[in-house]
Amino acid sequence: MDRFIIRGGRPLHGEITIGGAKNAGLKLLVAGLLTSERLVLTNVPHIADIATMRALLTQHGLTVETVNGDKTTLSVGGEITSTEAPYDIVSKMRASILVLGPLLARCREAKVSLPGGCAIGTRPVDMHLKGLETLGATITLENGYIHARAPNGLVGDRIVLPFASVGATENLMMAATLAKGRTEIVNAAREPEMADLANCLNAMGAKITGAGTGHIIIDGVEALHGAQHRIMSDRIECGTYACAAAITGGDLRLIGGQIEHLGAVVRAFEEAGVEVTQEGDAMRVRRTGALRGVDIMTEPYPGFPTDMQAQFMALLSVAEGASMITETIFENRFMHVPELNRMGARINVHGSSAIIRGVHSLSGAPVMATDLRASFSLIIAGLAAHGETILSRVYHLDRGYEAVERKLAACGAQIERVND
Ligand code: UD1
Repeated sequence: MDRFIIRGGRPLHGEITIGGAKNAGLKLLVAGLLTSERLVLTNVPHIADIATMRALLTQHGLTVETVNGDKTTLSVGGEITSTEAPYDIVSKMRASILVLGPLLARCREAKVSLPGGCAIGTRPVDMHLKGLETLGATITLENGYIHARAPNGLVGDRIVLPFASVGATENLMMAATLAKGRTEIVNAAREPEMADLANCLNAMGAKITGAGTGHIIIDGVEALHGAQHRIMSDRIECGTYACAAAITGGDLRLIGGQIEHLGAVVRAFEEAGVEVTQEGDAMRVRRTGALRGVDIMTEPYPGFPTDMQAQFMALLSVAEGASMITETIFENRFMHVPELNRMGARINVHGSSAIIRGVHSLSGAPVMATDLRASFSLIIAGLAAHGETILSRVYHLDRGYEAVERKLAACGAQIERVND
């Protein structure tokens, strides 16, 4: 198992290129199930979750290949030979549940393992299932699997989501592209990744309007065809490196970073005393003064993203004064707190809120990654800490961040990967 050794205390200066968005790329690969023609995706991030999704699509019968030896370009296509998504893959990566809608729409049946809980919470899928039932599917749960059937095909209808769920919006939007008639998704998720997915589906012949707003309209078509699509840049990776620049008092240009996609994160940086500006195709982040404590609540987009909560907590651990972070999306997403406290942070958790009392400095320690974003919060802390931080279980990080040590070292960080 790999570990990272980080020697902190060096400000980050220079440029980091932000890769394609994990949370868009995974769903865009799944869109390949909606056509028998080839879907070509560019700007694909080189991360473990993409490899897992390739394995899942391959076992459904598709071929997923790199194009001209370029690992950032993938071509997806072929006939579906299996409509079953097995437990061993779905339990590894929850985004696997996204194959349910497309398989059902295209093959009129699907059998997908229930994902079960994960490190950050119970994460039910009831909204995905109720939405598909509204489109005419019959759903049963047997032996840990979701069986969905629609022998006469799906039929468009009005779906009102009780919560603006990202996954349910994506699953239902993909399924509705091939349903008969019009589907409306009310209280849809508004994350920029929704618009990216809809743009790709429209390039494949779908008729979707309103993606990126709370009201999406999909007029079903007979079939989708092949297309080429560039995956949007990863706003969470961008925000993560911005935290690393800010905590070290550095100055970074994040190539491909889009301020407009970061919503409430930009406001939080500004309140904390961090300057964030758009300079052409790059987002520039720098800090010249002291960090100040801020209060944050995670919310659906355009609110503060749950996927930035852990990284921001690391930043606020060395800010002047107190901060409060309230997590409203997941019930168990503070596992980084005890690890940050081992590095000298003063953080108390009360239910869904964490009180962070800023300390003057952190000190390096052996710490353990627990989930993807929590892992990076410990790197951010390690970059600012005195002495050496040893981060174990970096496989959590490799799921969603590409070439972390190379990107950080190029900007002056002392970080190395060691293999036990
Ligand atoms: C969520 C995040 C997304 C993040 C991803 C990975 C939100 C709104 N979504 O997406 O930004 O990239 O995790 O960290 O911030 N829920 C149900 N029933 C359902 C579906 C969801 O109760 O059928 C609940 C979840 O338990 C959770 C909330 O709704 O409390 C948000 O879930 P959802 O947006 O669907 O989760 P993901 O798609 O995993």
